[in-house]
Amino acid sequence: MENWQELEQKLFMRTIKRLPITLVRGKGARVWDAEGKEYLDFVGGWAVNSLGHCHPVIVKALTEQANTLIQVSNQFYTIPQVQLAKLLIDNSCLDRIFFCNSGAEAVEGAMKLARRYGKLHLDGAYEIITTHGSFHGRTLATVAATGQDKFQQPYIPLPDGFVNVDYDSIKAIKAATTSRTCAVMVEPIQGEGGVNVPHDEYLKEIRAWCDEKGILLILDEIQTGIGRIGSLFGYEQYGVEPDIMTLAKGLGGGVPIGVFLAKERASVFAPGEHGSTFGGNPLVCAAGTATLKFIIDNGIPDKVKKLGQYFITGLEKLKAKYSFITEIRGRGLLLALKFTDNIAEELVLACLKEGLLVNAVKPNALRFIPPLIITEKDVDEAFGILETIFSRRT
Ligand SMILES: Cc1ncc(COP(=O)(O)O)c(C=O)c1O
Repeated sequence: MENWQELEQKLFMRTIKRLPITLVRGKGARVWDAEGKEYLDFVGGWAVNSLGHCHPVIVKALTEQANTLIQVSNQFYTIPQVQLAKLLIDNSCLDRIFFCNSGAEAVEGAMKLARRYGKLHLDGAYEIITTHGSFHGRTLATVAATGQDKFQQPYIPLPDGFVNVDYDSIKAIKAATTSRTCAVMVEPIQGEGGVNVPHDEYLKEIRAWCDEKGILLILDEIQTGIGRIGSLFGYEQYGVEPDIMTLAKGLGGGVPIGVFLAKERASVFAPGEHGSTFGGNPLVCAAGTATLKFIIDNGIPDKVKKLGQYFITGLEKLKAKYSFITEIRGRGLLLALKFTDNIAEELVLACLKEGLLVNAVKPNALRFIPPLIITEKDVDEAFGILETIFSRRT
């Protein structure tokens, strides 16, 4: 048998340190490696596999669409694209959509739209205020927007027009706002930054400030959207509406997709000012529609809310028992445990051995972003494994 891991080491640019298993198959919340070992997947493709692995509605949609029409250029109308657009717009506060292929591309497009708005309506304002600890993607401009040194340092000088300020501080946003500012962009909860939950009024305060200054509010819901935190979109829980919103990850249920949506007044692109070859391709849109329809029709966001509460109760019990756990963070099924020391990687490897996949979001924090269709039984099983591993440390 081919040694896939050795081959990867030889062929790939060294951008990621992979865990030492090769996954070959998935079903629901489970995956299997090349040796046939089963794992409970609480990473879910980094919050992508909203319906788990190979969900029948996604497989059916992909199979039917693959037999019908896979890709044509955006010069033409295609039905799956319009169907998904309608579903997203009917179920959100936004009016218009643009399709692309990833989260970074969605953010990049959203930022271009904000700059265009600035040029047309704000006397050429182009700066976007973003926050420390955020994550918005890996293109040069989204790295400039991402307020984390480790992603920015290797690429300085970065594109101009980004100001990174403290998260969860309206004071910091106000202090950074100038006549050059066209938008503020935040995640409702910072995902990659360590699952950082701001105070409840934060988004309302930003919304009020943006309204006062006539600038745009962009919500990056690539991780918090599509049911992840217990509502279809994160903004619903905070009593605000964004001018622009980005989505990706969970929207396609596993296929690469990104979108940004805007309110009518912020939708200022003219023909030719933005575009994409693959964006909104019939195949991915069929998967997206199947995923989103299943999530809406089956009340998944409400189920996530309840299951998140069940999960948090379990995490609280662990915290009460193990003094090396310092904090529980998150909402719905975007959750994290913070520790006194940098033990997350070691815990990930220990979990792997016991058949549980979790993510070390920070050296001192574990993140849980399982498929949204997991059950209490799956959560109990994960807790059984965590308990076994944690008890060894005392
Ligand atoms: C909030 C947020 N924005 C943007 C991105 C970038 O998405 P992608 O990796 O699909 O480019 C991510 C990815 O983790 C994210 O969590």
